[in-house]
Amino acid sequence: MPERKLVGLVWLTCLVVTTLGAQSDVDWWENAALYQIYPRSFQDSNGDGIGDLKGITTRLTYLKEIGITATWLSPIFTSPMSDFGYDISNFYDIDPIFGTLADFDDLIAKAKELKLKIILDFVPNHSSDECEWFDKSVNRLEGYDDFYVWDDGKVNAETGEREPPSNWISVFGGPQWTWHETRQQYFLHQFQVKQPDLNFSNPMVKEHMLDVLKFWLDRGVDGFRIDAVPHIYEYRYANGSYPDEPVSGWSSDPGAYEYHDHIYTKDQPATVELMYEWHEFLEQYQAENGGDTRVLLAEAYSSVETLSAYYGNGTRFGTQLPMNFQLMYLSGYSTAKDVVGSIDYWMDTMWTTHQTANWVVGNHDTQRVADRMGAHKVDLLNVIVSALPGASVTYYGEEIGMSNVDIECTGDSCEDRDGERTPMQWSPGVNAEFSTGESTWLPVNPDYERINVQTERGVARSSLQIFKGMQKLKSSSAFLSFKKAGGFSYEAVNEQVLQIIRTNKINEEYRILINMGNNMEVLEGLSDKTYEYILTTAYSTHYPGQTVDLGERIVLMPFEAIVLRWLA
Ligand code: GLC
Repeated sequence: MPERKLVGLVWLTCLVVTTLGAQSDVDWWENAALYQIYPRSFQDSNGDGIGDLKGITTRLTYLKEIGITATWLSPIFTSPMSDFGYDISNFYDIDPIFGTLADFDDLIAKAKELKLKIILDFVPNHSSDECEWFDKSVNRLEGYDDFYVWDDGKVNAETGEREPPSNWISVFGGPQWTWHETRQQYFLHQFQVKQPDLNFSNPMVKEHMLDVLKFWLDRGVDGFRIDAVPHIYEYRYANGSYPDEPVSGWSSDPGAYEYHDHIYTKDQPATVELMYEWHEFLEQYQAENGGDTRVLLAEAYSSVETLSAYYGNGTRFGTQLPMNFQLMYLSGYSTAKDVVGSIDYWMDTMWTTHQTANWVVGNHDTQRVADRMGAHKVDLLNVIVSALPGASVTYYGEEIGMSNVDIECTGDSCEDRDGERTPMQWSPGVNAEFSTGESTWLPVNPDYERINVQTERGVARSSLQIFKGMQKLKSSSAFLSFKKAGGFSYEAVNEQVLQIIRTNKINEEYRILINMGNNMEVLEGLSDKTYEYILTTAYSTHYPGQTVDLGERIVLMPFEAIVLRWLA
């Protein structure tokens, strides 16, 4: 048997600590069950076919039902919706599509009543080009001249033509610099042309952003998911010019983002410093206003070493949850050993150095698990992220096994990310009960009559039931995921079977076994004890209440996951 990866403190220490009631040592975010809501697609309350805040408020009890402790909402602010809300034109108001500030206050009030945390998307890197700030900057109004990143560009010595200041390519492809006729300068946009980058080297921009944070904190939010963190700062020479980025070798298309190595436009040291400043701002806010810890989640597709810096350096702290996307890179072919590799990538750095972990299942920019890995792997992934220590982050609909919809593109509103953004499937009713409208902004997945909350509530071992069962376990003492819990290990017991062990007391141990492969697996001598089945997935031939002697053998069906408990 391969050597077991023991992480955490020794068991005996943990015995003392847990029996002394160490639960109180866990801050809420450390083992949060987080849930991402894409507001356009969660619940429509007014029949216009687009989800809204009132709709979300009516569904908060559902989040409670399935064991969610905190939810983050993709942007709900005033926006021309060129990037569906990630292009904000007013950082202080709610877009009419989603409702009003009063609706937002109602949502917060209901969430507080239910003891659910609400986290907002915070998009500091850019605004919409329809934002008042951009207009003022275009027109060089006092104080706004340098609010965005402007530059004259270069003059080509041979042709005499004007050229962009550098060869930088935007994340969505094409140049990062666009000429502005009115201002007669180039402006920088790491994303769409309609998303000009704010200039964080300007202290006034930083001030404005702190003001935005304060505005929403005052309205009662529990934290922020910071959008596009690595892109906030760009490198600039002391003489004011911008260096070209080197070719990466990853792409042969000179217009593609992957064509360059983004050494000057991603993960600059000033961005790390900014995270610490924001953390300190939130801490100060808490000191003055009381309440629970306000958290920062960071969306950063960066190396784990960089994420570690975003988290903290030992003396200063930044984002408590730099999102861990490693499990999103698994495919249908991934074996248990691959899963262990993904877990190791995080644990070897983040757990060892900071004793913190989080696991993201999916998001609005990535295909759903059913498409990435296969429908039969959805439950397996949900089991894995709940069994591992730390916070889990579930994208709406993953708990019922929703899949992407092949959306035919018409016109220029086409988005290749629409497939994972279709309406939540609540019941086998009209529009899956998402909307009473004649149509919905994106089509409801035709599988909704089978895959929906209401139906799955009534089916034993449905994805929803597995998810709920795992959340219950996740919040129990053996699964509390923090430094002093100890007694946690994970390993691939063979190529296809992943084993996770969680223990707390001398008399309680959980073993989670997950068969990632499509063959039956027979395992012998895993332990010398007899265990009770606590949870079994759809492919299992066993049921909760049955027992198994792990000193003998245990059989796992293809794509089966089980939770076993040993009680002295
Ligand atoms: C983030 C968001 C994505 C958006 C981009 C620009 O990556 O998740 O949806 O398009 O930022 O704001």
